[in-house]
Amino acid sequence: MLICGIESSCDETACAIVEDGRHVLSSVVASQIKTHMQFGGVVPEIAAREHLESINYVIDEAFKKAGMRPSEVDAFAATMGPGLVGSLLVGANAAKTMSLVYKKPFIAVDHLQAHVCANFIDTKIAPPFLCLLISGGHTQLINIASFDRQKIIAETIDDAVGEVYDKVARLLGLPYPGGVLLDKTAQKGNPHAFELPIAHVQKNEFSFSGLKSAAARLIESFDKKNVPVEDICASFQYTIKETLFRKTVDFARELNYDTIVLAGGVAANSEIRRSFSELHEPQNGGYIINFPEMAYCTDNAAMVASCAYFNPIKSHDSLTMEVYSRI
Ligand code: KG4
Ligand code: ZN
Repeated sequence: MLICGIESSCDETACAIVEDGRHVLSSVVASQIKTHMQFGGVVPEIAAREHLESINYVIDEAFKKAGMRPSEVDAFAATMGPGLVGSLLVGANAAKTMSLVYKKPFIAVDHLQAHVCANFIDTKIAPPFLCLLISGGHTQLINIASFDRQKIIAETIDDAVGEVYDKVARLLGLPYPGGVLLDKTAQKGNPHAFELPIAHVQKNEFSFSGLKSAAARLIESFDKKNVPVEDICASFQYTIKETLFRKTVDFARELNYDTIVLAGGVAANSEIRRSFSELHEPQNGGYIINFPEMAYCTDNAAMVASCAYFNPIKSHDSLTMEVYSRI
């Protein structure tokens, strides 16, 4: 089954064509980073307008790269939420329109489910598994029992990991989106230079606002010209990794999972990928560990097409379904 997926929930306009949820024929992403950089974050109105400008080019390019025509796919899919409503509307309406024009089904997809499904691309991974979903807006541990049966078992009670990365990066003077640059800078620093707090919360909770404040206080304690940026990045990254790692491993042991997967933009983080990879060693539990290729961690449309195949939103008549900003 060939599905054309479209993603436009935040600041990436993307279109991809994927076969049977796993084999990517083409995946095109137009990023708006340069536009939003000057504002230090995504400006929703501008994002929606840029999606409108890019969407047709991105769709054309995806079909060109796949060497096929829109009439040759079996269905059209789009992210319906959560995300910025003005942005979501562009992708959703493009996919619905193509579905009407080419008389093929329209499949609605949830953005978070799509991040999880990025793990199915070019792999044989299948449920049951434990998924650590870490993105700009969400931090969740999800018990994926089957393709369409899942339960959130732990969630952040305040900031999402990606959000904290971006905020701390900004305080350190790194340009938006700070996560990637903070990761790069951290590789040059000492992760044990500063001790930052790991929140004491309930078993089913994550919390990062305390870490964010502690990092802010630490940065302010230095003279502006002498902030040890590399060591602060490394210590911050170490603390985030430890927080995520400990809870994920505890749950994996308790629930007897043998497979752990990562998903979302922060799953592109070098330290998080490295630490979780170590769990594959027999002496560390011998877990099957998977994380999507970098390009499928951050927002893309291949994961949307994969999700349309494996786990679409089934509760609505898709064509009349509206986009939504929150879960
Ligand atoms: O999944 P995503 O592309 O968008 C959302 O659905 O939110 O995630 C974006 C987030 C941003 O906060 C970005 O800074 C973060 O992922 N990110 C990273 C890295 N690459 C992207 N955070 C830490 N290390 C990275 N290498
Ligand atoms: Zn995302």
